[in-house]
Amino acid sequence: MQSKEEIYYKTPIFRPPSEAYSLLIQLTEGCTFKCDFCVSNLRKQFLVRDINLVKKDLEIAKKKYGSKVRKIFFLDGNAMVTPSEKLLEVTRYASKLFPTLERCGVYAHSKDILKKSDEQLKMLSEAGLKIAYVGFESGSDKLLEIVHKQATKSDHINASRKLMKAGITLSATFINGLAGGDNPDLSREHAIESADLVNQICPDDDRIWYIAFLTLMVPSGTEIFKKKLKGGFREMNSIEILQELKSFISHIDFKYKNANCIFRSNHASNYLPIKGILDREKRNILSTLNYGITHKDILRSEFYRGL
Ligand SMILES: C[S@@+](CC[C@H](N)C(=O)[O-])C[C@H]1O[C@@H](n2cnc3c(N)ncnc32)[C@H](O)[C@@H]1O
Ligand code: SF4
Repeated sequence: MQSKEEIYYKTPIFRPPSEAYSLLIQLTEGCTFKCDFCVSNLRKQFLVRDINLVKKDLEIAKKKYGSKVRKIFFLDGNAMVTPSEKLLEVTRYASKLFPTLERCGVYAHSKDILKKSDEQLKMLSEAGLKIAYVGFESGSDKLLEIVHKQATKSDHINASRKLMKAGITLSATFINGLAGGDNPDLSREHAIESADLVNQICPDDDRIWYIAFLTLMVPSGTEIFKKKLKGGFREMNSIEILQELKSFISHIDFKYKNANCIFRSNHASNYLPIKGILDREKRNILSTLNYGITHKDILRSEFYRGL
């Protein structure tokens, strides 16, 4: 039941770390996909909420926080799947209620983006949907299939180009260690194909876009957790993780050298916090990685890692 004065949330909610200070609005619940490593759809049945209730939440937020909200994130795991007319209506309503709103954001699976036309994406962008967080996880089709991502490298490329064409900022994540510790060939392919994917989507202009590497966590209840229990999956150790990331960075080679690709590997799941601009700061990033590889004592301990 939704109380008149409280914004509705169906916990646990899922949002990117960078949206920690944004107004969070529960547009959808759960996720329509079921990737082997993810907890987003384990405890919630997927649904798109009644748009009138979502608008009510925006009104309650205005009463609570005033009209100076700058960022809104529409929950949950893949709110981009919301039918375009509903997403447009709620984004327009948010922009009307909050005149200083800079952006609305959503998580988006590549397939959700591909299902929208260029025109629909452009309309969403003009209405205020300015950032989409897309889980690439890997550029290796083999690995994407193993973890049941239900998207291919070329889906990720096409979805990224569509976003960029519409003027929606891309923020994509990969998972370091996804191939596991017993499959060095797949880990190498993961690093090389992921770098190739990033090289291919690099736009030839100065816009800002984001690439982040999280490090695999194995939460209970996930398929990857079950695989691990059965002895079918070994997590990489911290050094194997950094070697894999080093291989990814080494293979980054943009045609457009003034690109503004903000690279981050500074999430709570990561062993070593890294930030830099690709591919201009590639050498610095590689030296940081080399330092981490040779100074294991500075790496984040397992106890402090999390999602
Ligand atoms: C909540 S998901 C939403 C992404 C979006 N639904 C998609 O699939 O494109 C956010 C991201 O967190 C990361 N993630 C989820 N589970 C993880 C895990 N167990 N270990 C590391 N990263 C994980 C993945 O990169 C995932 O794409
Ligand atoms: S990674 Fe994204 S698409 Fe996959 S289950 Fe999690 S939220 Fe859904």
